[in-house]
Amino acid sequence: MGDQHVLGNYGARALTMVRGAGVYLWDEQGQKYLDFTAGIAVCSLGHAHPRLAAVLTEQAATLIHCSNLYQNPWQNQLAERLAGLSGLDKAFFCNSGAEANEAALKIARRYFAQQADRRTEVISLPGAFHGRTMGALSITPKPKYHEGFTPLVPDCHTPATLAEVPGAISERTAACFVEVIQGEGGVHPVPLDVLQAIQQRCRETGTLLVVDEVQTGVGRTGTMFAFEQAGLQPDIVTLAKGLAGGVPIGAVLVREQVAGVMGAGSHGSTFGGNPLACAAALCVLDELAADGFLARVKAVGQYLGERLQELGSEVSGRGLMWGITVPDAQAFVRAAAAAGVLVTAVGDQRVRFVPPLILEREHVDELLDRLQALRVSGGR
Ligand SMILES: Cc1ncc(COP(=O)(O)O)c(C=O)c1O
Repeated sequence: MGDQHVLGNYGARALTMVRGAGVYLWDEQGQKYLDFTAGIAVCSLGHAHPRLAAVLTEQAATLIHCSNLYQNPWQNQLAERLAGLSGLDKAFFCNSGAEANEAALKIARRYFAQQADRRTEVISLPGAFHGRTMGALSITPKPKYHEGFTPLVPDCHTPATLAEVPGAISERTAACFVEVIQGEGGVHPVPLDVLQAIQQRCRETGTLLVVDEVQTGVGRTGTMFAFEQAGLQPDIVTLAKGLAGGVPIGAVLVREQVAGVMGAGSHGSTFGGNPLACAAALCVLDELAADGFLARVKAVGQYLGERLQELGSEVSGRGLMWGITVPDAQAFVRAAAAAGVLVTAVGDQRVRFVPPLILEREHVDELLDRLQALRVSGGR
């Protein structure tokens, strides 16, 4: 069956995936692939994880959805777990990363709407990606993503360089959005001194610091959140992707004093935080809390980072989130798929590796064996 009735926004897609198990996917021809995309940093426990599958089956047979008209014990439990893990106080649940950032924007605007200075300005970083809905797009500075969609949300600004960001934050700024590692921007860690200077400036000016952990959160970088490694104390954190292992979910974690502005009726989502998604997320958090899980992400990730030096240059990342520079990223992705490995391009010359968090050293060796022909040791 063809995709003639599917909107063309994703372009041509050559492969059809029909099944997964662990770190592997199979296409409709029965071809097996080592999956270093994990559904774009989503399938944290890999594919067809037995415990996640059992939790979903049981939850589907109990209660999938009941809306936010009623108390939801799974949502309450997930909010409590995330508060404990993050040090923040309250959670709002939605269904995607863009929605989480959208909610964070609204929370920041509303926080200052209730203050004497009514700030509206929002600052984001060059190279940032926060999503494709109008608000999230307005703080995602890539011109190509804006084409045909202007005017965007007013008073959103992105300085030309990272070094200019702290200086751009003033008493007019409601919020500054940062990623600790810019994933869609090419897997580029934002230098720690820049992040620290931004935090310092946010404190001096009373600006809210929003850390977008949609891609880096939930163990991806070897700790539960990447902000822990950067010494940040955010006012708001956004999550999505890996949180429920592939079931759509988004979350906004908010410091108490800020959360107070979101009274009844201020925001909402029909599906957000439904029992199915929350049960899946609780299962993912249980697995990540198991002895040695995050330590293994760190150790296997470090090994992956070392071995990726054999495949490209400017290797950067942390945990199980890495990017490399190659002469032609699209050609690399195609050649890798032909060799049985799935990776994604994030830029003309950047290739991203974001495997399931259950990856083992032997899978890294398999990656290198399969991509033997693509090794560019002379190209660095
Ligand atoms: C850092 C970051 N924020 C937000 C988003 C948007 O998430 P979604 O595609 O779930 O809307 C992404 C997606 O890649 C992301 O990497």
